[in-house]
Amino acid sequence: MPEEITKIASTEREARSFIRAAREGRKRIGLVPTMGALHEGHLSLVRAARRTCESVAVTIFVNPAQFGQTEDLSKYPRTIDEDLEALRDLGVDLIFLPSQDELYPNGFSTYVLPPAVADPFEGQFRPEHFRGVATIVLKLLNLLPADVAFFGQKDFQQFQVIRQMVKDLNVPVEIQACPIVREPDGLAMSSRNRYLTPDERERAVALSDALAEAKRCFDDGATSSSTLAEYMSEILRKAKITKIDYAEVADANTLQRIDQIDRPAVALIAAYVGRTRLIDNTLLAAE
Ligand code: PAJ
Repeated sequence: MPEEITKIASTEREARSFIRAAREGRKRIGLVPTMGALHEGHLSLVRAARRTCESVAVTIFVNPAQFGQTEDLSKYPRTIDEDLEALRDLGVDLIFLPSQDELYPNGFSTYVLPPAVADPFEGQFRPEHFRGVATIVLKLLNLLPADVAFFGQKDFQQFQVIRQMVKDLNVPVEIQACPIVREPDGLAMSSRNRYLTPDERERAVALSDALAEAKRCFDDGATSSSTLAEYMSEILRKAKITKIDYAEVADANTLQRIDQIDRPAVALIAAYVGRTRLIDNTLLAAE
């Protein structure tokens, strides 16, 4: 069989012509939005898309609108050659690599006001973040109107924000969540892990250890959110992780904090290991 050739596109026109061709071929289109610096977590989304869709588009765009003034936009890892190599054998049909001017030309001034689920946790510590995420995801869904779009549970609140936005704004796409891919010791894969020094890398495993402990306690019958939160903070502090934005339990659908875990819930952590801010989460009860 001849190898499928992956198209690389960077303009709105090329994106639209790709969608037109896929629609003519009656292909189900899957979309995987990323900011590049691809790792196995991203690739798992591509594989999930490949399993259910005949045509798969991956977007790589470091979206300035979702970074705060003091955040890591300029030093966010850009590894485009490695990214293209990683995607080479996965059967991707389109890689969309737009420039900043293509997506935010002079005069751009319309933003999505994200849903209430964006307000706590990340919304509290990164005030403009979900406005930027919601805006770029809606733009990408307009440029590449897919049947299914794939997001990782790693960014659980982001997934809920996008799910709600798509519902509220009647965007004709199905949103699918994919499980968190972890390193062998449990650390959730993240493009930001490459910032960690060897010592920080060792200590970073405390995030997933803390979440695993919370899950174990919940499975053993603990239902008090504050008890689980205490256990998590203790594990983080033992690893000398002291700058903790949050280590808490919330309703898995609304992301509102709860006292008693009497419904589908999620334990969430955001903490700095050295100067690197990491996030992770685990579901405590099936929805
Ligand atoms: P990025 O951080 O590159 O992540 C792209 C997608 O990969 C997201 O859906 C994220 O949840 C998923 N992902 C990251 N690490 C993962 C892991 N360890 N396991 C499973 N999935 C993982 O999230 C963004 O980019 C941006 O906000 C974006 C949605 C592209 C909008 O700019």
